[in-house]
Amino acid sequence: MNNIYDNENFFEKYSQMNRSVNGLSGAGEWSTLKPMLPGFTDKVVLDLGCGYGWHDRYAVDHGARQVIGVDMSEKMLKVAKDKTDSDKIKYLHDDITQIDFDDDKFDVVISSLALHYVKSFEDIVEKIHGYLKPDGIFIFSVEHPIFTAQGSEEWNYDGNGQIQDFPVDNYFYEGKRETDFLDEKVVKYHKTLTTYLDGLLTNGFQINRVVEPMPPKNMMNIPGMKDEMRRPMMLIVSATNKKII
Ligand SMILES: C[S@@+](CC[C@H](N)C(=O)[O-])C[C@H]1O[C@@H](n2cnc3c(N)ncnc32)[C@H](O)[C@@H]1O
Repeated sequence: MNNIYDNENFFEKYSQMNRSVNGLSGAGEWSTLKPMLPGFTDKVVLDLGCGYGWHDRYAVDHGARQVIGVDMSEKMLKVAKDKTDSDKIKYLHDDITQIDFDDDKFDVVISSLALHYVKSFEDIVEKIHGYLKPDGIFIFSVEHPIFTAQGSEEWNYDGNGQIQDFPVDNYFYEGKRETDFLDEKVVKYHKTLTTYLDGLLTNGFQINRVVEPMPPKNMMNIPGMKDEMRRPMMLIVSATNKKII
């Protein structure tokens, strides 16, 4: 198992990001995601691509009975374990695409900004449909299809070095994109909005909410944040498993 989060330079820069230093409150999308989360009291939760485990600890702090956080990065999991003192959370070193759980095991599956690293959304949704109990909740954030389409994830600049616009291209050509993130080449997988939303609907889910988070007012003075109003960067979707047993 090998991913960019185990690259020394990348990991070091990631650990300096606001969301890594300040946790959930340092994440631009948190104020949008938080009110979309289901109740966690007595719930069994799976977190795909858990990173430092912020959402796992949040779930336990809000009553979850058991949480499994899956991540393929040893470095990310080491930090997660160091920051966790609850025996209700188990961290699993595994690839999201390789996970295997019993059917009807979880009440909630959460995934924060990890599924754009995975090639097939449909394969994951099929699995989650099985792992979730009937009426279980799947809530995830991903980089927005408008943001991932062209691939560079970089603004176009004018001759004066000012932002001109943001490129959207090759939207319907899904698949691998190589972008510069934290000065490293990072592979992500572009998918269309149809793939995310219709993929849920055709795999037994009912969609509850679809939100494109905007930068929160209290972060607007962070350099570059106002520009985030010019195009969506993330997509957050909450869906209910309409499984019939
Ligand atoms: C942007 S971080 C988000 C971490 C955490 N969910 C959060 O919001 O703070 C993406 C995480 O997904 C993990 N990841 C990416 N691809 C993965 C895969 N195929 N299997 C498991 N984890 C993966 C990375 O190792 C990294 O920890």
